[in-house]
Amino acid sequence: MAIEIVKVPDTGGADAVDVIEVCVAVGDVLEVEQSVVVLETDKVSMEIPTEIAGKVVSIKVNEGDQVSEGDVLIEVEAEGEAAVDKVAEEPQVEAAPVAAEAPVETTAPVASTAPAEIEVPIPDLGGADNVDVIEVCVSAGDEIAEGDSLIVLETDKASMEIPSPVSGTVVSIAINEGDKVSEGQALAVIKGVAEVDAVSAPAAPAPAVPEAAPKPEPAPQAQVPVAKAPDASKESGSGDAAYAGPAVRKLARQLGVNLAKISASGPRGRIMKNDIRGFVKQLISDVESGKLASGTGIPPIPEVDFSQFGEIDMEKMTKIKKVTAANMSRSWLNAPHVTQFDDADITEMEAFRKSMKGEAEKRGVKLTPMPFLIKAAASALVAEPSFNVSLHADGEHIVRKKYVHIGMAVDTPAGLVVPVIRDADKKGIWQLAEECAEMAAKARDGKLMPRDMQGGCFTISSLGALGGTGFTPIVNAPEVAIMGVSKAAIKPVWNGSEFEPRQMLPLTVSYDHRAINGADCGRFFTLLVAAIGDIRRLLL
Ligand code: COA
Repeated sequence: MAIEIVKVPDTGGADAVDVIEVCVAVGDVLEVEQSVVVLETDKVSMEIPTEIAGKVVSIKVNEGDQVSEGDVLIEVEAEGEAAVDKVAEEPQVEAAPVAAEAPVETTAPVASTAPAEIEVPIPDLGGADNVDVIEVCVSAGDEIAEGDSLIVLETDKASMEIPSPVSGTVVSIAINEGDKVSEGQALAVIKGVAEVDAVSAPAAPAPAVPEAAPKPEPAPQAQVPVAKAPDASKESGSGDAAYAGPAVRKLARQLGVNLAKISASGPRGRIMKNDIRGFVKQLISDVESGKLASGTGIPPIPEVDFSQFGEIDMEKMTKIKKVTAANMSRSWLNAPHVTQFDDADITEMEAFRKSMKGEAEKRGVKLTPMPFLIKAAASALVAEPSFNVSLHADGEHIVRKKYVHIGMAVDTPAGLVVPVIRDADKKGIWQLAEECAEMAAKARDGKLMPRDMQGGCFTISSLGALGGTGFTPIVNAPEVAIMGVSKAAIKPVWNGSEFEPRQMLPLTVSYDHRAINGADCGRFFTLLVAAIGDIRRLLL
């Protein structure tokens, strides 16, 4: 295996050219034509490809260095014998059709009477054919000044703006975004400004291409525009004016990133690949942490320095709290919530529950209202299957569930978790009470396994032991509904002839109105409240 070197090619006369990006790392295995570094002069940026395939063994330049023709960029352990033949070859860059010098004014006449319609063709592209049109900057009717960009072209190695050779009105544009164009092809027709005998137009520049690359022909006529190098003076934050090289633009397009939103870290405000990667990474992290709602365009709540108002302490959120925050934001923003309220008369249920206390103690089980609520919810889901559904992620299907698994929100020091009691419709109150206690203990000891928290159809969140007369819980998506349980209280209830003191349990059901409508909830909730009001119904 021979060690080959990749050098700076002919830079079109420019010396001390900035290295603005090193595209490879030691150990990378390169293919022929793969970009090694990006160089940039005031007028142009160019990617320098390797002609040698193989493994990078050392890198001789850093971002920010300045290099000249012949300087060594990298050393490559060439692949196979074939590569040895290339050892003497000067590394070459593709015929990047880029301008190195400021346009030169010429006085070649293009119109003898005015206003004249001038046909503007695609100029000499330095030998490149079928070049992608990535942007059309003008439309018919636009008033433009000489030098205004008509279109932006991009090869693998360079992007270039094609300026108008004249001031005037755009009559027509013959090219669309996504087209591929070559020299001489009709680009636009422009009606030049009046009283112009001759139009000053920039001539083709000396190209910043290596010696071996075909050099652009001089512009045969003054109306031929030239490829304009990216303008280093442009602000990176101004949308189309973002200052970035072709490889960076390509990466941005692949990832769907708007360059206008990127903060540039490169020289003279140039956007680097790492700026895009950093932006995407931050975006993903913000969405995952719930700081930014995906796709909603909702601006995040601004950061405030609370210490300016008094003493504070910073506590790191637990993983569970962060996941809950993200899940709650996601559900709240995706699912249009409706919350229905009702009170269940639990006088008889409570009398029964208390009568079973002795037996519960013998069984070693604490009998709270929770297993009754789970059983009632399960039976209502069986009786009203329109409620036992999920909205499919495709937004076009309802998933109907033949199983009844009920989640129970448990408050733990590490945060809120929702273990799931499986097949609650098939289990008796004792078994449900045991499983509730077991799951709550596991939750508080941090021993729940992921499978313990999966597959719920409906969640019950009880704040009954704490107080409150009602709250609107957020659906635990992809479930479609959740019940909030508040503190039971004795209330006067009209029995038809008099007020009677009854123990009433305030309940709320929030549901995702995309999957469930009010009538479904009305039926489900009525069944549930009736079952709690008369637990004999749970036998039916
Ligand atoms: N009204 C009045 N009293 C109630 C009640 C209600 N709705 N629900 C429970 N109680 C009583 C219980 O009967 C028990 O009293 P007792 O010992 O005299 O029988 C007492 O409150 C404590 O009950 P608890 O130990 O909390 O058991 P539970 O079965 O009601 O609840 C959990 C178990 C795991 C759900 C509960 O401990 C919990 O973590 N709740 C918080 C859930 C939460 O944070 N939800 C909010 C999500 S945003």
